[in-house]
Amino acid sequence: MLLVGSLVVLCGLLAQSTAQLAGLPLSQNQGLPLAVTPELPSNPTNHLAGSFTNELSRGLLSGGLLGILENIPLLDAVKSVGGNSNGLVGGLLGKLTSSLPLLNSILDIKITDPQLLELGLVQSPDGHRLYVTIPLGLRLKVNTPVVGSLLGLAVKLNITAEVLAVKNNQGKIHLVLGDCTHSPGSLQITLLNGVTPVQNVLDNLTGILTKVLPDLVQGKVCPLVNEILSNLDVTLVHDIAELLIHGLEFVVKI
Ligand SMILES: *[C@@H]1O[C@H](CO)[C@@H](O)[C@H](O)[C@H]1NC(C)=O
Ligand SMILES: *[C@@H]1O[C@H](CO)[C@@H](O)[C@H](O)[C@H]1NC(C)=O
Repeated sequence: MLLVGSLVVLCGLLAQSTAQLAGLPLSQNQGLPLAVTPELPSNPTNHLAGSFTNELSRGLLSGGLLGILENIPLLDAVKSVGGNSNGLVGGLLGKLTSSLPLLNSILDIKITDPQLLELGLVQSPDGHRLYVTIPLGLRLKVNTPVVGSLLGLAVKLNITAEVLAVKNNQGKIHLVLGDCTHSPGSLQITLLNGVTPVQNVLDNLTGILTKVLPDLVQGKVCPLVNEILSNLDVTLVHDIAELLIHGLEFVVKI
């Protein structure tokens, strides 16, 4: 929320100063059509933000992200949540105990159509950190006799990776991964097809998936981001790290 707030303020300020710039020439050249807007100088640091997200995207894809997502052993994870609950009432499974019948009835869960959507980038208010939003989409085919046919679900999840600049002993600057996590509540599950199951079944399934899926995805995505950061183009890393170390804002656009 804080980040979004500060971005809005920043955008507001930019819009204001652009408007002020625009106001001057227009009042002096009244004959000009309204469509004339001052051309903003091309901003090399803005370009830097774009290069950074492009490189991350490319690295995620070439690092095999989509295949990795498709091969997450979701069924095993779901079953092990159920398995752990025996004798651990109120423990791991917590409120989900009532989901056990459904959980035990699940024969298979397949992950298909993994997608990497456009990365988001924001800078912390102090300018020293970047937060990369990695929006992921995938589909699940759940096979359970409780529903009677394959249940199709669309899943969306954002992983957020914090990026910092650090200097090593030799004074060399690196970009490193800080916190890397899914934002709470950023898992969206929607029903795609098939017989509409009773709400209870859907709620149970959502409860189970919420328990296991974000952690599994995060566990795959974050190490990959870490690896990409350490293999990024040296010049790009240097330019970004310098700005971060000095707390200079360069991420203007959401
Ligand atoms: C992911 O983050 C973007 C903003 O970067 C937001 O628009 C979207 O709704 C989020 N998706 C989920 C599933 O939370
Ligand atoms: C799971 O389904 C059962 C009925 O089969 C229902 O009583 C229970 O509230 C559901 N649990 C959750 C967490 O949705």
